Amino acid sequence: MILPECPSTNTLAAELSQAGQAPEGTVVITHNQTSGRGQRGNTWESGKGLNLTFSSVLHPGFLTASRQFQLNKVIALAVHDVVKKYTPEQVRVKWPNDIMVGNKKVCGILIENQVTGEKLSRSIAGIGLNVNQSEFSSPLASSVSIHSGKAIDLVTMFEDLLQSIEWRYLQLKNKQADKLDGDYLDSMFRINETHKFIVGDKETDAMIVNVDSSGKLIMKINNEMRSFDLKEIKYVY
Ligand code: BTN
Repeated sequence: MILPECPSTNTLAAELSQAGQAPEGTVVITHNQTSGRGQRGNTWESGKGLNLTFSSVLHPGFLTASRQFQLNKVIALAVHDVVKKYTPEQVRVKWPNDIMVGNKKVCGILIENQVTGEKLSRSIAGIGLNVNQSEFSSPLASSVSIHSGKAIDLVTMFEDLLQSIEWRYLQLKNKQADKLDGDYLDSMFRINETHKFIVGDKETDAMIVNVDSSGKLIMKINNEMRSFDLKEIKYVY
């Protein structure tokens, strides 16, 4: 479904799904998202007609709720694989699922899951990829075209992304999760390097070493392994 304007493709996809009108594979995309939602209750701003803002509806009934982080890997790697084709710079997945080119964020992902019993009955994977926007209010944000040096055809990139999502999703469905796990670790931003992070309210030197099966970030701090969820840790640039 293509809409000239819409408040949030994630919200609309969830409403369609609730109404029984969004079989698996349904994609909602808009040229102008006016109230985009981000992680931790943040908003997601995107210039009209410049970027890709869309949501895919998945029915991962084969996945238990305890393994839901696998979907973050599927979507983040799918976007990572496509963005890599557009720039010689280093493309990385910043845990849990931001896509970075160098030290700048070019894409945010919001995955909203519905659990029925022990299984995931529905997942809305929302992707906000900055493609042709050239100015941002945040100094940490960027777009793919800034790093590729030329304007990008949105339709071509969108089609590439849908194929990439399908490919990574089938990897998960076809029991190749170990491949996803390996690729996710290989593409992780700042893995196996010591950097400053805010842990609690203190700035601390720490090293990302892994992600556990529930999606928690495993870090080595003062020779001790500790795991963190999204609210407990902040990257320092
Ligand atoms: C983040 O905070 O980094 C996640 C941003 C996710 C934005 C996308 S844009 C398409 C979809 N619809 C929304 O309202 N949010 C997601």
